[in-house]
Amino acid sequence: MNHRRALRAAVTIAVTGALAAGMTMTLTSTASAGTTLRASAAEKGRYFGAAVATGKLSTSVYATILNREFNSVVAENEMKWDATEPQQGRFSYTGGDRLVSHAQANGMSVRGHALLWHQQQPGWAQGMSGSALRNAAINHVTQVATHFRGKIHSWDVVNEAFADGGSGGRRDSNLQRTGNDWIEAAFRAARAADPGAKLCYNDYNTDGINAKSTGIYNMVRDFKSRGVPIDCVGFQSHLGTSLASDYQANLQRFADLGVDVQITELDVMTGGNQANIFGAVTRACMNVSRCTGITVWGVRDCDSWRGSDNALLFDCNGNKKAAYTNVLNALNAGPAIPTDPPTDPPTDPPTDPPTTPPPGTGGCSASVSLNSWTGGFVATVKVTAGSAGTSGWNVGVTLASGASVTNTWSATATGSTGAVRFANVDYNGRLGAGQVTEFGFQGTGSGAGITPTCTAS
Ligand code: G3I
Repeated sequence: MNHRRALRAAVTIAVTGALAAGMTMTLTSTASAGTTLRASAAEKGRYFGAAVATGKLSTSVYATILNREFNSVVAENEMKWDATEPQQGRFSYTGGDRLVSHAQANGMSVRGHALLWHQQQPGWAQGMSGSALRNAAINHVTQVATHFRGKIHSWDVVNEAFADGGSGGRRDSNLQRTGNDWIEAAFRAARAADPGAKLCYNDYNTDGINAKSTGIYNMVRDFKSRGVPIDCVGFQSHLGTSLASDYQANLQRFADLGVDVQITELDVMTGGNQANIFGAVTRACMNVSRCTGITVWGVRDCDSWRGSDNALLFDCNGNKKAAYTNVLNALNAGPAIPTDPPTDPPTDPPTDPPTTPPPGTGGCSASVSLNSWTGGFVATVKVTAGSAGTSGWNVGVTLASGASVTNTWSATATGSTGAVRFANVDYNGRLGAGQVTEFGFQGTGSGAGITPTCTAS
């Protein structure tokens, strides 16, 4: 638990570099401000998530808020090692599968939490050490990531492996005692099992530039330099009554290493600063173009592990708190994630002027990034509205022979082979001029040659 000093109530928007680089950005969107967290985040190309206990999905107040406000979920406990492998080699996915189904039915992506952690290990693993534990841990990563393959946006592959205090080093644990390379071994196993998921390192007390966050920073830099597959760093952000003044700068220094950053378990001590801190954290994320989403650690105050801290965005009756309003306003006021910089311009200008407007000026344009492996792929499609904005969009792709769509998120697919179309879902169809949103799909076969075309309505 971290209680930071010095709240920074306002964070300076720093986007000039991106603008100078010619990227398309939307600085404010108050005219088309979203009215829910999920819509407002999606308008800016981001997700807004909540930690969920699936036992609460049958509580109507809970489910109503979850489905209305959030487009990402994470299991508060149900994908952890003790839940998924209660006996060695016997896997149980009941809670995790239920959460994934709920997410798919409600247009939400899923964060996976957490493949390896020194806490919430099953009893059989707690008693192991050495190569037996190392093998069991890597097998756990492989089995669980394989089970959920194609369904997880981002995995917390390793959770909380660094020590608190000033050492900047690793925390002692049974996993650490198997050898310092246990973290990279876990990341390599996760990549092999689910090549489409973003792989994150996740920790707390990293809410500014300090010894612990610097230790993690050095590990990420080392991983990137040696090709260890890491894509993102999660900042849990269990916060007290103040926020470190360099919270945003800390996110940015990780982003500058070439990883995404995500706020993964946000909750804030109640009191005078709570709403301000929620707003400031949201602004910090919005100001970092590689900050791809925010997750709060529960829905209502009384769902929180922090009990009387009343640390969340909704009170126990499901009413929106001042903190909610600050987060929504910060999402609406923040810049969108920049679209990819244009590829190299053609060396020769076209001889004939185009007869149709270039993509993106009037309607919308779409670009794809592919994560492929032998026999399958995950496609992430970025939709960018043209100058008129959109009230809806539809993206068409033509799949290679033998390829088939097996799973779609943040869009509705029509067809699964050959010519496949993807329509917006309710919360991401309305885009202001130049705004971006993302959807994705997984397929079997080859994703080669997918060229999306976008039609706006
Ligand atoms: O479900 C059992 C119940 O059957 C039993 O009667 C009861 C008795 O103690 O325990 C229940 O399980 C508890 C579980 O939460 C579900 O409520 C566990 O004891 C309790 O340890 C567990 O706490 C979770 C904690 O992680 C474990 O370390 C919290 O819900 C969860 O919010 C918390 O989440 C962590 C993140 O994973 C990592 N970052 C920090 C964060 C907060 O601690």
